[in-house]
Amino acid sequence: KKTENQMLVIFGASGDLTARKLIPGLFNLYLAKQLPPNFVVLGASRSDLTDEAFRDRVVYKSPYLKEKIKKLDESEVKGFADKLFYMDLGKDYDTDYAPLRKRVESLKADHGTSGNIMYYLSTPPTLYETIAQNLSEAGMNTQNNGWKRLIVEKPFGYSLETARQLNKGLHKYFTEPQIYRIDHYLGKETVQNLLVTRFSNSIFEPLWNRNYIDHVEITNAESVGVEKRGGYYDKSGALRDMFQNHLLQIVSLVVMEPPIGDQPEEIRNEKVKALKSLRIMKDEQTLFDNTIRAQYVASEINGEKVKGYREEEGVDPNSTTETYAAIKFFADNWRWHGVPFYVRTAKRMPTKVTEVVIHFKAPHHQIFKDSGMQSKDNKLIIRIQPDEGILIKFGVKVPGQGFKVERANLDFYYSSLAETYVMEAYERLLLDAMQGDATLYARADEVEAAWEFVDPILDYWKNGKDVRMYGYAAGVWGPENADNLMNGFGFWRNPGEN
Ligand code: BG6
Repeated sequence: KKTENQMLVIFGASGDLTARKLIPGLFNLYLAKQLPPNFVVLGASRSDLTDEAFRDRVVYKSPYLKEKIKKLDESEVKGFADKLFYMDLGKDYDTDYAPLRKRVESLKADHGTSGNIMYYLSTPPTLYETIAQNLSEAGMNTQNNGWKRLIVEKPFGYSLETARQLNKGLHKYFTEPQIYRIDHYLGKETVQNLLVTRFSNSIFEPLWNRNYIDHVEITNAESVGVEKRGGYYDKSGALRDMFQNHLLQIVSLVVMEPPIGDQPEEIRNEKVKALKSLRIMKDEQTLFDNTIRAQYVASEINGEKVKGYREEEGVDPNSTTETYAAIKFFADNWRWHGVPFYVRTAKRMPTKVTEVVIHFKAPHHQIFKDSGMQSKDNKLIIRIQPDEGILIKFGVKVPGQGFKVERANLDFYYSSLAETYVMEAYERLLLDAMQGDATLYARADEVEAAWEFVDPILDYWKNGKDVRMYGYAAGVWGPENADNLMNGFGFWRNPGEN
């Protein structure tokens, strides 16, 4: 695909995301010769920095690029750094953007970037609409001399209502095809591979339904706690931070019907349909039976003391924000009728891992009675991260007399494709947006459908009468009570186990 000449304007450029993800992503694209010939980045923020100071911060002295730079020629690094510019917006993003426009025009004239501009909003979401409005008032959203696109970071809304308002607010100034809502999980190779696994093979899709699948389990675990983001996290929690976006995106790829092709709208239409099919939990009893929340409490991991969530910096000592969420739900459609989905996400787990486990039903008629196999032992495990790959578990005969059956593994590792260069999530997503491909970005209705499912759970956890908050020691697989969700379906799988 062609990447046209363009300019990238990053709002909030002095923040962590720019240094940690955006600039490293662009640097990789530069080294891979994927940036267009005429391309510049203009960082805009409220810090007082010169172009040089900005380059120092995000390139020359960046801890995120240190190792990479050591291995490169000085001229190569300079070639990239020289494409970066900075503008201090003053005290407030809510200001007249005429000076910004002037700077954009002069960079465009000096570097021949054409009128194509990508605005990246890496600011608190409360500023999204303000920035869009100011861009519009300065005439910077018009598309008559080159396209204008807007990338917005998560979180997109805090609830269904706020997400709707945000969509409405942005739509006043930018059309939906101009808006790219980022979800970095969609930039992960293995998440995209869910589509390929399902729709480019004939061996999985015929089984991908209620007739053959017993239940679906998705685990997203992180070993870290809330790190230095206590202030943000305490207002958010696992359900908003991970489930509403990243995990429901994965769910939508598992649940969706085959799209008619690989065009962005063809795929996104099916994802929206999938999200809309999730059965919304309405009454307190259902919410009580199907949702579990918990917080990590102080513990020791490998002999080291670890703080409990409520002791973390920036967290209210009486906080009722969850660091663990496990939800059981159903998709009300033809394919999935009656198949339970178990999805959990948490901080301070024993390890960092994300995986999707498709548990198949037992054969209808069991011939090998002393098989030694459990009845639900056929599994397809899609390892999103780490050890990216796919594992199939099936029964084989134990050599010797009789018919004893044992579990065997067919195991594929992405790393076996070692010579293939794997793009980082942000790198891939940035390049897609630069090329106008929105397949891996969330559409307005998609985000709203996800909130529609999550809202009642959040509301119940906040206002419900009999809501429990469990505790789990940092470094274990969450509260034991989470196994109760699984009634009849055993226990959560310990991810990473073979
Ligand atoms: C972010 C969340 O969106 O995703 C973080 O805000 C979380 O809390 C992170 O740590 C996890 O991303 P990854 O790619 O490391 O799984």
